[in-house]
Amino acid sequence: MAWRDWIRTVEIEPSLYAADFARLGEQIEVLLGAGARIFHFDVGDGHFVPPVTIGPVVLRSIAPIVHEAGGVLDCHLMVDNPRHHFAEIAESGGDSVTFHFEVAADPGETLAAAREHGLGAGLAFNPSTEPEDVAEVATGFDLVLCMSINPGYSGQEFMPETIDRVRRLRAALPGDVYIQVDGGVGAENVRDVYDAGPRLFVAGSSIFAREDLRRAYRRLVQALT
Ligand code: DX5
Ligand code: ZN
Repeated sequence: MAWRDWIRTVEIEPSLYAADFARLGEQIEVLLGAGARIFHFDVGDGHFVPPVTIGPVVLRSIAPIVHEAGGVLDCHLMVDNPRHHFAEIAESGGDSVTFHFEVAADPGETLAAAREHGLGAGLAFNPSTEPEDVAEVATGFDLVLCMSINPGYSGQEFMPETIDRVRRLRAALPGDVYIQVDGGVGAENVRDVYDAGPRLFVAGSSIFAREDLRRAYRRLVQALT
């Protein structure tokens, strides 16, 4: 199984970083029941981004719940040395790794290492990086993640210039590489972002900051249909 099998034309990916960790399993079950299939899992090392976030220990606890329901875990590595974590992530039940262009000396080599562990692979880039520079080395990746915030924290505001950056990225990327957008995505802007070309949308606080998670997830899906 690979990204092209996971994606049902378009996906809203709940970002577990914004979950209530005292009720993590329960919240995942609610979202699986609402139709979510791909869960976004943010690993931060306290170096590439200021906070230490969540890692393999949490992944191991939730992977059986997600996999049993036919879901997958998409791990966004906001870390300086992504390769160092691939084996443990794969063993802990991660299905895909997305690492940052800004720290990848040789993206092709790091991609090959991810594949050796049977992982899907994405290449992420920050708002200060030029989309064309990323597109140039993106052949062979499943997806390119265009950050619409500076990575590190949930709950930040969507940067409006992302729309133009995504358009430039779409024009420069091979057609078979998906675009994912992460940061500040909500029901009020997801349609406009979609029109620029991405098919994968990460949503943290626009789901988890709501009382009714099922309804929040459905609202995002409906905004795209
Ligand atoms: C932050 C993470 C995001 C974050 C998104 O750097 O990469 O995935 O959880 O949260 P929202 O949707 O609230 O911006
Ligand atoms: Zn993320």
